[in-house]
Amino acid sequence: MRPDVSPTPIRLADYAPPAWVAEHVDLTFDLAPRGARVRARIRFVKGPGEAAGGPLRLDGQKLRLLSAAVDGTDALPSITVDEEGLTLAPADNAPLPDAFTWEAEVEIDPEANTELEGLYLSNGVYCTQCEAEGFRKITYFPDRPDVMATYAVRIEAPTSIPVLLSNGEPGATGPLPGDRHFAEWTDPWPKPSYLFALVAGELVAHTDAFTTASGRPVALAIHVRPGDEDRCAYAMDALKRSMRWDETEYGREYDLSVFNIVAVDDFNMGAMENKGLNVFNSKYVLASPETATDRDYELIEGIIAHEYFHNWTGNRITCRDWFQLCLKEGLTVFRDQQFSADMRSEAVQRIDQVKMLRARQFREDAGPLAHPVRPEEFIEINNFYTATVYEKGAELIRMLRLIVGAETYRAALDLYFDRHDGQACTIEDWIAVFEDASGRDLTRFRLWYAQAGTPRVTVSEGWVEDAPGQGGRYTLTLRQETPSTPGQPLKKPVPIPVAFGLLGADGRELIEPGVLELDDTERCWSFELPERPVPSLLRGFSAPVILERRSSEAERAFLLAHDRDPFNRWEAARALALEVMMGAASADAFAEALLPAITDASLDPAFRALLLTLPGEDEIARETWSRGRPADPDAIHAAAKAARKALAEALEPELRGLYEAMETPGPYTPEAGDAGRRALRAAALGLLARLPVGAGMAEAQCGAANMSDRLPALAALLASGSPAADAALDAFAADWRHDPLVMDKWRMLQATASRPDTLARVKALSEAPDFPWKTPNRFRSLVAAFAQNPCAFHQADGSGYRFLADWLIRLDPVNPQTAARVAGAFETWRRYDAKRQKLIRAELSRIAATEGLSRDMAEIVSRMLD
Ligand code: ARG
Ligand code: ZN
Repeated sequence: MRPDVSPTPIRLADYAPPAWVAEHVDLTFDLAPRGARVRARIRFVKGPGEAAGGPLRLDGQKLRLLSAAVDGTDALPSITVDEEGLTLAPADNAPLPDAFTWEAEVEIDPEANTELEGLYLSNGVYCTQCEAEGFRKITYFPDRPDVMATYAVRIEAPTSIPVLLSNGEPGATGPLPGDRHFAEWTDPWPKPSYLFALVAGELVAHTDAFTTASGRPVALAIHVRPGDEDRCAYAMDALKRSMRWDETEYGREYDLSVFNIVAVDDFNMGAMENKGLNVFNSKYVLASPETATDRDYELIEGIIAHEYFHNWTGNRITCRDWFQLCLKEGLTVFRDQQFSADMRSEAVQRIDQVKMLRARQFREDAGPLAHPVRPEEFIEINNFYTATVYEKGAELIRMLRLIVGAETYRAALDLYFDRHDGQACTIEDWIAVFEDASGRDLTRFRLWYAQAGTPRVTVSEGWVEDAPGQGGRYTLTLRQETPSTPGQPLKKPVPIPVAFGLLGADGRELIEPGVLELDDTERCWSFELPERPVPSLLRGFSAPVILERRSSEAERAFLLAHDRDPFNRWEAARALALEVMMGAASADAFAEALLPAITDASLDPAFRALLLTLPGEDEIARETWSRGRPADPDAIHAAAKAARKALAEALEPELRGLYEAMETPGPYTPEAGDAGRRALRAAALGLLARLPVGAGMAEAQCGAANMSDRLPALAALLASGSPAADAALDAFAADWRHDPLVMDKWRMLQATASRPDTLARVKALSEAPDFPWKTPNRFRSLVAAFAQNPCAFHQADGSGYRFLADWLIRLDPVNPQTAARVAGAFETWRRYDAKRQKLIRAELSRIAATEGLSRDMAEIVSRMLD
């Protein structure tokens, strides 16, 4: 358990440059599950700040300090050790020199490290996670990103641990007495401590090679546990494509002779961009047709790219402090989105991104955990690796690119790399390169980084006919308002780029499509047009806002049929679907509007699959609440079920036709074209399973050899309510009992199913003696997945809430970071009726009152209760 720390927030306004900076770090590790030894030799010089040369504060947690020396003597200046680190202060007899070498030996306990931060053991593999503040659990250090040093690392271990990895270039290796050996690594690129990594274990490598644009060879390796080596090919391929793409699109080459990736089973997040040694959650590396779905392949491609792209946006240029996290994360997410759009269908990628943004970031922005893309204070930085920092952060860059244009964007990025290579930077530095490259004043744009909350843009229109049949003047008025968020009652208008087109009755563009810049509370534009247009606004979702425009069913059907912008076609379908599911429109009319598009063979199947996928119940709950009514999960569930069934009835012959037509011939390939066909087939099956005929089809498909066909079939069978579902679940478990990643899917299906006994089943699974809940993937597959269940989690007697709270209280002392993250499931409590609100608040209060609560959990829970 963590020491109890008084929750004093850390503030951006209090930033001060370091008093001392480390120039070079030598580390020697002597690995052992308990009592691993770490010897550090660190060269310190005076820092740039006012406090330069004052006392040296080193962060350190859970370290047993065995010895320390300054410039080789243990006649030290005054040294005070506390729970959070130590202070080295000048003393009369020994003032701190202008530059000196600090040496310390500490002992740490990787086996007992269940928080998965610092150095820990995962399934027999030693590995590290240092972002954000894990390095201080390895040795004493100024553990802040603006202290950048070169590193030389030596790892000593028993020969039973053959693979010894760290950052940078490999150096000497060799035997040591007593069945031991060593390996040395040097990283020539100065880096902050959060990018340090060490991995050691019995691993096998899937290797390959890459030659950079300027002809330098790079040895590539993906290290996995024996038996997994045949599941690395796709990740390796994605890595090589990422490396090439960063060269062609951003002019960025890789800068070491080796690039290593390791897959570990216990990991709090998706992956980590340590210099030259990316560490991944095995879920985002390992894939075979039998075990991974198309979606898994897509995520692997995106995350491999994301971590690789960090080499320039994050590592070569890093963050000055953790408030600037979006500097690297927003930019790197934007870059991985661009990459995925280039590798796959741009339209489909964009729609998926926006679905995710709305489901997670809009949800966050509308609740008690809302915070700006660049927060101004935090208690525990791990709580700020959020959809707002990552996904909204990426949206801000997408807007910047739209505002300045693609060419200027590229010039601004070139300037950024030129000007700031090797530095630890701020959002001010970032905006400045855009101002310098474009000559524009972006003062107002900065507000996007400082203000939380999702702006609402309302639309009003006017039409004055010149003379009957002679055309007229069309006026478009856009108005913005951002609701208040915790600590930010009043908001200023932000610049909102609204990509738009104006369509004539036959669907053609009446004017050249463009971008309207709503740069004040309200703005009005007018156009001389031959006829009254139907506007297509916020094309491509050009800004992260909620667009409110009263629109008729007929107009939506028109846009669904005619808009040239695929995003807005989908958006029209989604708006119609929402009306159907909220009882304001008929399923038949929706089916009629949908029919031409879903059967249009010239349209990408993946896109058609998105048209056929109805909004989830969580989205309807959000929409209900935003329209001023409390969300009733049971009523929403019933309405959603009825809408799906009605749509299936209305489209049955076409759905069956699609199901037949979309069968993919030949062996499985993860390629986007095939994946799209499977997605459309699965969407058709998902609806058909609501009809008696569909259950049998789903049951038959459960025997599919590849997971992309098998998993949606099993989900459809569960949703159909067929009595065959249990046997199919059992058969699945019998096939995959030995494979933890696949069994996560099996648990997740059951945890998210809308069956009357879901909670009882989830409880039984969670109480099974062999359920390894301390592994985050396992915990998430069951407990966190259940908390996403729109019905079972919200059952009226509060038993779903109690189940989650019990598990959070249990996990918190073991792994506070993952526990606090899952606790975010409660953030939507304001959406529901008074009775449910009371039940949720009672659970939050019970968590808050738990003794020894982590700083992570204490912060999250208290913000949700405010
Ligand atoms: N930088 C990593 C990534 O986005 C995530 C690290 C998360 N670490 C944490 N402590 N929350 O690729
Ligand atoms: Zn990242």
